[in-house]
Amino acid sequence: MDEASYQKVQIQWFPGHMTRAQREIRESMKLVDAVCELLDARIPASSRNPDIDALTGDKPRLLILNRCDLADPAVTARWRAHFRSAGLRVLETDAKSGKGVKELPQALREVLKDRLAARTEKGQGSRPMRAIILGIPNVGKSTLINRLAGRRAAVAGDKPGVTRGRQWIRIDRELELLDTPGILWPRFSSQAVGEALALTGAIKPEVFDTEALAANFLLRLRATRPELIEQRYKFTPDPSESGYALLERAARKRGMLISGGEPDLERMARTLLREYHEGKLGALSLETPESADSFD
Ligand code: G4P
Repeated sequence: MDEASYQKVQIQWFPGHMTRAQREIRESMKLVDAVCELLDARIPASSRNPDIDALTGDKPRLLILNRCDLADPAVTARWRAHFRSAGLRVLETDAKSGKGVKELPQALREVLKDRLAARTEKGQGSRPMRAIILGIPNVGKSTLINRLAGRRAAVAGDKPGVTRGRQWIRIDRELELLDTPGILWPRFSSQAVGEALALTGAIKPEVFDTEALAANFLLRLRATRPELIEQRYKFTPDPSESGYALLERAARKRGMLISGGEPDLERMARTLLREYHEGKLGALSLETPESADSFD
């Protein structure tokens, strides 16, 4: 991450957005028994909201690593172990294809085990347990809710005023899910986090200088998975090359030239980012539990 500088770094989340999101989550907390925290499996640290503990208090929580189809399975396994050792129940999903989604009710039931048992003991077993999906923008919340809803009918909210406009989706006899997800703001703690969010679509890549973002991404790839550059862009990255030089070589290999035979860096940068977004570079995680140790 050496040479690329950003002229356009701008955060789209202003304090007003954050305050509103915070208020909405606090309102929702009054309605639910448990929380499903959705993360992008490629960037579990950067896609975590730093204030989630304070916001959700002691609500039982299920952590969902979504987009696991785009993440390196070996790295995801390490993340799973990392979160489990912190006492969290973890589920891996690909909400787009539906993989892992049918395990959600059972995982949620496990998270709520003690409360369900206490309720049965007190003879209060009639009301279903209620949960909400929380996550930063674009992490797959709506896709997951739609998957879970399937053809299931949504049941109307039963507290006018508080639940106006919201509905509960009946998952099974014991569980209901709020049909509106809670939107969390992403962390903006460093340039590396900003890049990770832009590369995975949580914030618009245009927020950054696209060429600089792509050049840094190539440096990251060369350091961690150089074979992916070779496979996709058909050249062996030299350890001494700058990120821009790598971008230039990729552009030349792809025949992306502008008049005068100069490489079209802007076009190549956009292509690279799109190909990562589409999974064409392969399953590629951007963070490991070890690399993210310094985040908190
Ligand atoms: P949000 O409610 O959290 O804001 O996110 P949303 O469900 O709208 O999902 C954002 C994008 O991510 C959607 O793509 C969706 O298809 C995709 N997506 C969600 N979950 C997964 C997953 O597990 N794997 C993959 N590969 N994609 C997932 P889109 O922007 O509508 O189009 P496109 O990105 O599919 O082209």
